[in-house]
Amino acid sequence: MRILFATGNSNKIHEAKSILEPLGHTVEGLVIDGNRPEFIEPKEFGLEHVAESKIEQALELILGTEFEGSSILVEDSGIFIDDFDEWPGANSSDIEAEVGLDGILKLMVNSKSRGAEYRAVSILSDGENVWRSIGICRGELALEIRGTNGFGYDPIFIPKSGDGRTYAEMKESEKDMTSHRAKAMMRLIESLSAPSK
Ligand code: IMP
Repeated sequence: MRILFATGNSNKIHEAKSILEPLGHTVEGLVIDGNRPEFIEPKEFGLEHVAESKIEQALELILGTEFEGSSILVEDSGIFIDDFDEWPGANSSDIEAEVGLDGILKLMVNSKSRGAEYRAVSILSDGENVWRSIGICRGELALEIRGTNGFGYDPIFIPKSGDGRTYAEMKESEKDMTSHRAKAMMRLIESLSAPSK
């Protein structure tokens, strides 16, 4: 299947390619008139709501273009820190920009637990059917910034299933074996053969 990923985040496109292309699908970033889509995100209602809103906006954007009827993928994702009750969640990118990873680590100084998880909500539409999936990756926050790979919170996120390295210290192929994004996208592809919901 040719999948057009409607996102402004090139890291997500890169990871989606690595996850889905070995399964026989192609992934391209959706570009309309030379621009990647920019969505209005109702972040106060959480990841699922934002993802639903993104797919509605994406389907509207492609109406009347060469992409109408194509398979469109959207995703909303974020990190959830146990001690901060669903935070930063859907606001992860804003908080990263505002306080930085150093700022997050400083906020954690008196935290009892360093537990956290990444969550991703993926939605795929082929113009007639819609498939949805969620992926979660448990882990904990490192004591310091480590590694240069990946993006976003990867230099401070240590996946539970790993060997103590942060995602930013791992090769991309290692992250793709356990990440929230990989789980959500693999589930989405598995569900393609089932009736859509
Ligand atoms: P979105 O584009 O609104 O879905 O925001 C996603 C934000 O969540 C990113 O900008 C990062 O701050 C964070 N995030 C989500 N997935 C990852 C990941 O795989 N690695 C690191 N940060 C992530």
